[in-house]
Formats: sequence, structure tokens, C-alpha cells
Amino acid sequence: MHKAAKWRQLFTQIFGVGVRTADRWYREGLRTLDDLREQPQKLTQQQKVGLQHHRDLSTPVLRSDVDALQQAVEEAVGQALPGATVTLTGGFRRGKLQGHDVDFLITHPKEGQEAGLLPRVMRHLQDQGLILYHQHQHSRWESPTRLAQQSHMDAFERSFCIFRLPQPPAAAVGGSTRPCASWKAVRVDLVVAPISQFPFALLGWTGSKLFQRELRRFSRKEKGLWLNSHGLFDPEQKTFFHVTSEEDIFRHLGLEYLPPEQRNA
Ligand code: CTP
Ligand code: MN
Ligand code: MN
Repeated sequence: MHKAAKWRQLFTQIFGVGVRTADRWYREGLRTLDDLREQPQKLTQQQKVGLQHHRDLSTPVLRSDVDALQQAVEEAVGQALPGATVTLTGGFRRGKLQGHDVDFLITHPKEGQEAGLLPRVMRHLQDQGLILYHQHQHSRWESPTRLAQQSHMDAFERSFCIFRLPQPPAAAVGGSTRPCASWKAVRVDLVVAPISQFPFALLGWTGSKLFQRELRRFSRKEKGLWLNSHGLFDPEQKTFFHVTSEEDIFRHLGLEYLPPEQRNA
């Protein structure tokens, strides 16, 4: 591996550090995590937290963590807005046993009810002492036809979080590097979608990244339709397809339904 690439890999593992920042630090002569710790003025708040919890965050998240997190998020969402739902997405929905984070999609069966929900959810989670860090991103509203054109990024409201997940005492035994840890830091993505876009958001956020890229390419090249996490658009008719499930989307694309476990490509 090229020398600079080695440090790029080390630095970009830190939550909140991208390739450009990693390369700049390398040019500035920084080489180790301790170098960074000695230069806190160079770090954003997000990066400081990422560095602080680096060991936990570079430890794979386990299926047992996911269940505990889902329970906590469901409770907060239920308190913030009765009837709102939480769905596991990302790698764990595809049946993976480990992951770098946990992804949840939140919606409400009545269109529009999801507006303003996320800050309330975050407040409940914070009151429970479950949040070490979170960064809220507002939904970036654009005209539906502009949204339809975007092939990778989506515009949903979201929160990039680091949870403080309590650990059962049993998890402390057996070769853990921190035998007495009563909690661990876990990256969680919370995304909110209105119910009309929910099946597209679910499909997009379930991944894998490669599978979604291929599906969107197939849709455009073979069917002449634009697929993303907001919808499926016919550019000739200038219409959106109405769907109520992932199965509907596969059907509109003329494809056999693939369950999440088969989207690990
Ligand atoms: N995704 C997205 N927009 C983003 C980030 C992610 O649409 N800004 C989608 C991607 O399609 C990705 C899925 O959400 O497949 C989950 O993203 P991520 O958590 O990064 O990957 P996982 O497949 O869950 O794998 P990991 O175990 O590394 O978390
Ligand atoms: Mn994930
Ligand atoms: Mn994620």
C-alpha cells in the first residue's frame, strides 16, 4: 500500500473524517491517533467524539446490540408520536451478523404526521441518557422532479448518532479488551421518511450500496425509469409510480422480488 494511503485509511476510520481531511492531516505531518489527540484545535466536535470513542466504534456492532437499540428507539418513537413505526434497515436487515453501524427508518402511517418527529425522538433518547453525540440534518426539500433526478444522495431528514448502549454484565466476560465496560459507543443512523416514499426509502437504505447502484442502473438503462430513495419516475410521462411495498417496486421494474438477505452483492 502507498504510504499516504495507509494513514488515509487510519484517519478515515474516525467518525466525521473524510478523505480530504485525512490527506490534509497527512500533509501537515500527522501520523497517529495520538498526534490528533495532541492537536484538538484541528478537530471538529464530531471528530473529537469520534476519536474519543474510536475503540468502540471500530469494534463491530453485534446482532444483540441491534435488538437492544431497536427496543430503545421504538420506545422513544412511540413516546414522541404514538403510531409512528421503526424499521431496521442497512446490513442488519440483510441478515448480516455484524456491522459498522445500525440503520433505522422511521415513518407514520398518516402522511405528514412524521414532520417534526425526529427532534422529539432525540429529546426522549437524550433524556434516557442514551446519546453521546448526534448531528441533525434537515430534510433538503427540492421540487419532486429534481429529487427524481438524483441517483445516489437522498434528501430525508436524519440524525447521525453515537449511542451510549448499556451492556449486559455477561458481555463483559470472555476476552473483551475492556472487561468492566458497562456500556459501549455505537454508531446509529436514524432516517425519517413520509409514508408515501417509505418503500423507496426502505429499499434504498437496506442496500447494499452495490446492489442499489446496480438496481438504479438497470432501472434507467433497461426500463428508462429513474429510481432512488424517494421514488420511481417515468421521465417521458413525467409521472411517479405509486407503491405501498418493496414488492411493488420490483414488480414495476419487471423483476422478481429479492428478499433483503439476497441483496448482499
Ligand atoms: N445509504 C443511503 N444514503 C446515505 C447513506 C447510506 O442511501 N447517505 C444507503 C446505502 O444504500 C447503504 C445503506 O443505506 O447500502 C446502509 O448504509 P451503511 O450503514 O453505510 O451500510 P451497511 O450496508 O448497513 O453496512 P455497515 O455494516 O457497514 O453499516
Ligand atoms: Mn449500516
Ligand atoms: Mn449507516
